Amino acid sequence: MSYDPTDEGARMSFQGHMSYGDYLGLDAILTAQHPKSSAHDEMLFIIQHQTSELWMKLALHEMSAARDNIAAGDLQPAFKMLTRVARIMEQLNSAWDVLRTMTPSEYTQFRDTLGESSGFQSYQYRMIEFVAGNRNMAMIRPHEHRAELAHPLLAEVKRPSLYDEVLARLRAAGFDLPARERLDQPHQPDAMARAAWAEIYRDPRRYWELYELAEKLVDFEDYFRRWRFNHVTTVERIIGFKRGSGGTTGVNYLRRMLDVVLFPDLWELRTEL
Ligand code: HEM
Repeated sequence: MSYDPTDEGARMSFQGHMSYGDYLGLDAILTAQHPKSSAHDEMLFIIQHQTSELWMKLALHEMSAARDNIAAGDLQPAFKMLTRVARIMEQLNSAWDVLRTMTPSEYTQFRDTLGESSGFQSYQYRMIEFVAGNRNMAMIRPHEHRAELAHPLLAEVKRPSLYDEVLARLRAAGFDLPARERLDQPHQPDAMARAAWAEIYRDPRRYWELYELAEKLVDFEDYFRRWRFNHVTTVERIIGFKRGSGGTTGVNYLRRMLDVVLFPDLWELRTEL
């Protein structure tokens, strides 16, 4: 007799009942892959991007809640969320191993079908950078034709970034730091903020929560840098120094992005300690 899970009480009929696929909206997700060629590897390429975007969605969900908690002075829940974001980045980093199995010969079979689409136009990636504090108004332009994407990016550059809220915590702890004048610019190194962090890092016991907060941000940026490095290496391995489908110089552009620093105070401080 073959095994029947009904014996254990498993529901086997879902007429009129919400099932797994209903709850997760799997019909929408699993019918959203539309290869434009007959090349075998295009499915890998599509799913790799789609899954990355799903993880980015969760990262944004966590980052924005972490920012709210930091603003309210609730650092412990924010620590948990930022840890989760770092784990998500780690997950995205491991995902490159799957994409790396695609060779240049395989990619060139369908590259032309992408047209000018590129991760450069990833709305969520830009939003992650904007929330962290790396804000460049030019990066909103690829979304201008879609108000529902451009508006949240425009609204984001008007509000304090995650790092701005962290600096507000330093102020609340008594450190004298000027407010940032231009919220729509990336964070520049600031001598007063660095001095405040130096005091915290020299006496972690006294400032334990702020010290832990700083390390969560460094962790986040550490994993983010690994993502950028894995991306550029995978790209060089697959397309060499060809121009990107998005129109940039490709690997040279991505190498320049490796120099982006999200939280310069926290990195520069280390030389002083
Ligand atoms: C065969 C695989 C891939 C290749 C050849 C590739 C290539 C490139 C290139 C050349 C750029 C620079 C912009 C351009 O001119 O197009 C770029 C940017 C970007 N790609 Fe990829 N990519 C690949 C996979 C991925 C995957 C899986 C993701 C995950 C979502 C991704 C996300 C991004 C993002 C977010 C940017 C913008 C980076 C920035 O502006 O700092 N890419 N990619």
